[in-house]
Amino acid sequence: DRSIKIAPSILSADFANFGQEIRAIEDQGADWVHVDVMDGHFVPNLTFGPPAVKAFRPHVKTFMDVHLMIAPVDPYIEAYAEAGADMITAHVEAGPHIHRTLQAIKAQGVKAGVALNPGTPVEAIEHVIDLADMVLVMTVNPGFGGQKFIHSGVEKTRRVRELIGDREIHIQIDGGVTPETAPLVAAAGADVLVAGSAVFKGGSVDKPDVYGSNMQAIRQSISG
Ligand code: DX5
Ligand code: ZN
Repeated sequence: DRSIKIAPSILSADFANFGQEIRAIEDQGADWVHVDVMDGHFVPNLTFGPPAVKAFRPHVKTFMDVHLMIAPVDPYIEAYAEAGADMITAHVEAGPHIHRTLQAIKAQGVKAGVALNPGTPVEAIEHVIDLADMVLVMTVNPGFGGQKFIHSGVEKTRRVRELIGDREIHIQIDGGVTPETAPLVAAAGADVLVAGSAVFKGGSVDKPDVYGSNMQAIRQSISG
């Protein structure tokens, strides 16, 4: 089904309260929970190792979408699968063997995503598309929340949609998704929208309804 899913990135959550933050976004209508894993090498920031992801797991009732921004990636696939990821997304730029990486993810029995940085052409995934359950189109350079949307991602999304054809593969957009940019990528064929700052801004575990209205604003921008 192609209905739009919202996947809040807990990179923008209160790091002292992940359990409550996850419960709050899910109660407010989040479809998936997006976990940004960074290694201080592939991207200039550091976040969650497998034990942290394992600690999030019991709080996630929906779907835990783990975005690995790490290189090398292959040595850590098993650990993130065992930590409880429902989907593991790896970057095509993270190593020379994306085909092997996607096979390794699937061998763990979890869904496999393949991510493209803003500077990487769609052709880079042409020969692995049948191994993917999702293509992630980055619309910022990965590393930080709160960056400005890179507009060339809209045309890229259209090309990914063409490449996918009738296959049952999600297109996820990550970076700078707001009520202004969401309709552009939705029209181009995206169906899973990651949003960090646009979901968490102004809210907290004590004011979770703000998360709900922020997600509603994104949904309405698409349908309206
Ligand atoms: C960027 C991460 C994103 C980021 C999105 O490296 O992959 O998931 O947290 O944050 P916003 O929605 O604030 O751009
Ligand atoms: Zn992400």
